[in-house]
Amino acid sequence: MGTEARIEQLRALREQALHAGNERAVARQHEAGKLTARERIEALLDKGSFQEIDQFVRHQSTGFGMEDRKPYGDAVVTGHGTIDGRTVFVFAEDFTVFGGSLGRVVADKICKILDLALETGAPVIGLKDSGGARIQEGVSSLDGYGRIFERNVRASGVIPQISVIMGPCAGGAVYSPALTDFVFQVDQTSHMFITGPDVIKTVTGEDVTMEDLGGAMTHATKSGVTHFVYPTGKDALEAVRYLVSYLPRNNMEMPPYYAPSDRPDRIDDSLDAAIPDSANQPYDMKQVIGTILDDGEFFEVQELWAANLVIGFGRLDGHVVGIVANQPSVLAGTLDIEASEKGARFVRFCDAFNIPLITFVDVPGFLPGVGQEHGGIIRHGAKLLYAYCEATVPRVTVITRKAYGGAYLVMNARGVRADLVFAWPSAEIAVMGAQGAVNIIHRREIESAPEAEARRAELIADYETRFNNPYVAAELGLVDEVIEPRETRTKLVRALDMLRTKRETLPPKKHGNGPQ
Ligand code: HXC
Repeated sequence: MGTEARIEQLRALREQALHAGNERAVARQHEAGKLTARERIEALLDKGSFQEIDQFVRHQSTGFGMEDRKPYGDAVVTGHGTIDGRTVFVFAEDFTVFGGSLGRVVADKICKILDLALETGAPVIGLKDSGGARIQEGVSSLDGYGRIFERNVRASGVIPQISVIMGPCAGGAVYSPALTDFVFQVDQTSHMFITGPDVIKTVTGEDVTMEDLGGAMTHATKSGVTHFVYPTGKDALEAVRYLVSYLPRNNMEMPPYYAPSDRPDRIDDSLDAAIPDSANQPYDMKQVIGTILDDGEFFEVQELWAANLVIGFGRLDGHVVGIVANQPSVLAGTLDIEASEKGARFVRFCDAFNIPLITFVDVPGFLPGVGQEHGGIIRHGAKLLYAYCEATVPRVTVITRKAYGGAYLVMNARGVRADLVFAWPSAEIAVMGAQGAVNIIHRREIESAPEAEARRAELIADYETRFNNPYVAAELGLVDEVIEPRETRTKLVRALDMLRTKRETLPPKKHGNGPQ
């Protein structure tokens, strides 16, 4: 065969690989409102940047008629490309080939990508759309999942890992996304569960639809498994690109800097009026956050779950920051089990990837209740505490209003080694609220007073005057500076400038043993 003929042969083989899924399967995929694996990669990466790997890989299995069906590339498309010019690795399960099911060579291809991503220090993005373990290959397929899980864990904290669920993701297969840093789901066309509706019906008798059990909104609002929901695959992939713009390629780099158009010393008078006159009146902490960040741009994470704690990314003077904030307009901003878990994982992500943390505090305490106690608020709340305590990135706190008791400490107080703590004049930093405090320390006096209720009110007012302010903490150096709300942005920009060279290391250890 001459050179030209050989090149022709290569082109013909490539053409076959590009159409591994037959026309009927591709048509079904489109009818279901889904893109094909290659269309997804196209939408995700910079135009023309995709470099495919293992295009000619074929399965070696026999039986069940498999020897007659050996499409090139098998059921996953893998390779690397760029997002905004920065390298990322990608694998896209191809539902049009054996339902995207994972056999030995599919796992081999994914593992090769994970290994390369880890060795070169680049993010990895998995686009999931699969019927799960390839039934014809049995345990060899299960082993494939095991090899993927182990690599997900090995890469955790070294490179960002993102999963986009764009079709079915069932059984043990869900553990790969769960081990990664961020999970996206497409509304209506993606489902995640350990056991499906039919098995549940048989075992527990419960009737549930696929959508109710494992749809995007279920995981975004109830289970907290999913971080982001988008109406279409294209929207989700566009959002992945946006998320990547906030992330470093690996744990040895800083996140990308973009020259801001917003002035670092911008003063915002509206913040002076952000806190309502009454201490029990809610306000929207997201508005405060938006006012302070560059160009008001805040990319919220897990917006629909545990909304009493707000987390997300933004920039201050062009540098990426991670925001953790109590939300007084939901559950009065109390910390509960879900908020603690949400906050803890985010704090650990930011710490692993050199993203400074800004914490906005308005927390009356932990949410009281038997359900919370029996659900393990002690160990879940401890996760957030643990995450802050071990974080060595710059940590700056702004106390806008309430900071009471244990929750004060858990929200990155000086005692747990915050680098700088600012407080607004409206801050109330105390061991507990005035009413509770007075009822305990003045119980006897109130009981024996001729006008008990009047005396109680007097003592509460006195306690409020003495402790519902930032100055007791400032006298003790637990607040570094009491600032005017309007100057918060400029104070934070300067604090982060100063902290840019912060170097802190934890004592050498294999790993800690935080509460789980
Ligand atoms: C091999 C599979 C497959 C699988 C689907 N296909 N799942 N082939 N192994 N696991 C094939 C189908 O045979 C079909 O091939 C094509 O993919 C499309 O599937 P359909 O059923 O026609 O598609 P649809 O109606 O959209 O239904 C999708 C589905 C369903 C809900 C995912 O296919 C399904 O329930 N599949 C089985 C899911 C499952 O139980 N997987 C094993 C889970 S155990 P043809 O040739 O007809 O086009 C598991 C354990 C992992 O994953 C453990 C890890 C630790």
